[in-house]
Amino acid sequence: MAIATIEWKKDCVRIIDQTKLPLKLEYLDCHEVKSIWKAIKELKVRGAPAIGIAGAFGVILGIKSIHTNDSRVFREKVDKIIAYLGTSRPTAVNLFWALERMRQLVVLHHELAVSVLKRLLIKEAVKILNEDKTICRMMADFGSSLINDNDTCLTICNAGALATADYGTALGVFYRAKEKERNFKVFACETRPLLQGARLTSWELKKHKIEVTLIADNTAAYLMSEGKIDKVFVGADRISRNGDTANKIGTFNLAIVSHYHRVPFYVVAPSSTFDLNVASGKGIAIEHRHADEVSRLQSQKIAPQGISVYNPAFDVTAHEFIHAFISEKGIIYPPFERNIQHALK
Ligand code: MRU
Repeated sequence: MAIATIEWKKDCVRIIDQTKLPLKLEYLDCHEVKSIWKAIKELKVRGAPAIGIAGAFGVILGIKSIHTNDSRVFREKVDKIIAYLGTSRPTAVNLFWALERMRQLVVLHHELAVSVLKRLLIKEAVKILNEDKTICRMMADFGSSLINDNDTCLTICNAGALATADYGTALGVFYRAKEKERNFKVFACETRPLLQGARLTSWELKKHKIEVTLIADNTAAYLMSEGKIDKVFVGADRISRNGDTANKIGTFNLAIVSHYHRVPFYVVAPSSTFDLNVASGKGIAIEHRHADEVSRLQSQKIAPQGISVYNPAFDVTAHEFIHAFISEKGIIYPPFERNIQHALK
């Protein structure tokens, strides 16, 4: 059962509006670059690979309103669109990776007529979407080899079909293990403050008939102390050269408790999530979001008026706490600095 998170529909981008899940499965058609920017900013489309795909299609929406035959003017306008889309969310490097791919195409083919370039850009965005489908399945093949019968796995946030084109990174591993008829269970952390685990991961896994149990985030250490978790699988938003990994806030807590309980902690991410320009987690920009996300639960106020709030959307898991990375190139074990470079080249 495929979930089409994001699709190109001739003149618009159709996304699942994830803020409506799990109560309603509603689609949103974005016809302009501004509406896709807003959809990314407001997490209507979210998850690192999906944000990258949305960014690429954002460029397509933006060029619809460029009316020039001058390829230099066209290139300048494309650069502006790309810079604008890059302001939507700062942490997931997949967004910048996809935007750069679009920009490079224009640079490489600057001698072509603008109308031809426009067609090439559409092709490139569709290619990015289709590649994601293939890459997620390749990662899932590698990752599912780590799941044994009777395993109980834990995950946080949503690194599933909803965070990619249609299959997922960490959850893709579960989907493939199920296709291989492995018998296993999953615990999903609810993922405060925006509840991607409760709203999205449990919805997806249930839809795929994977046995899933929802927990409050602060239950993970207790579960592990009871010996009830065998492996942890999470996604990533940006991985630095040394393997430090930015992912949804709370991931680092999970990695520390996993380490303490000797539970292997796996990060599942495509090569587009590795940022070899950044030496360590210290160089990763962390998005900070609005106070209301913490002081309200959905629209209900749960804290005193005017309370001060600290709301980073991501944290950085130090590479020492990561057992291995699962990418489309294979499973990458420590030492990460050397092995990441080697696997990705
Ligand atoms: O703020 P979000 O919902 O976009 O955060 C998403 C995550 O942190 C995911 O774990 C990450 O992007 C990997 S998705 C395959």
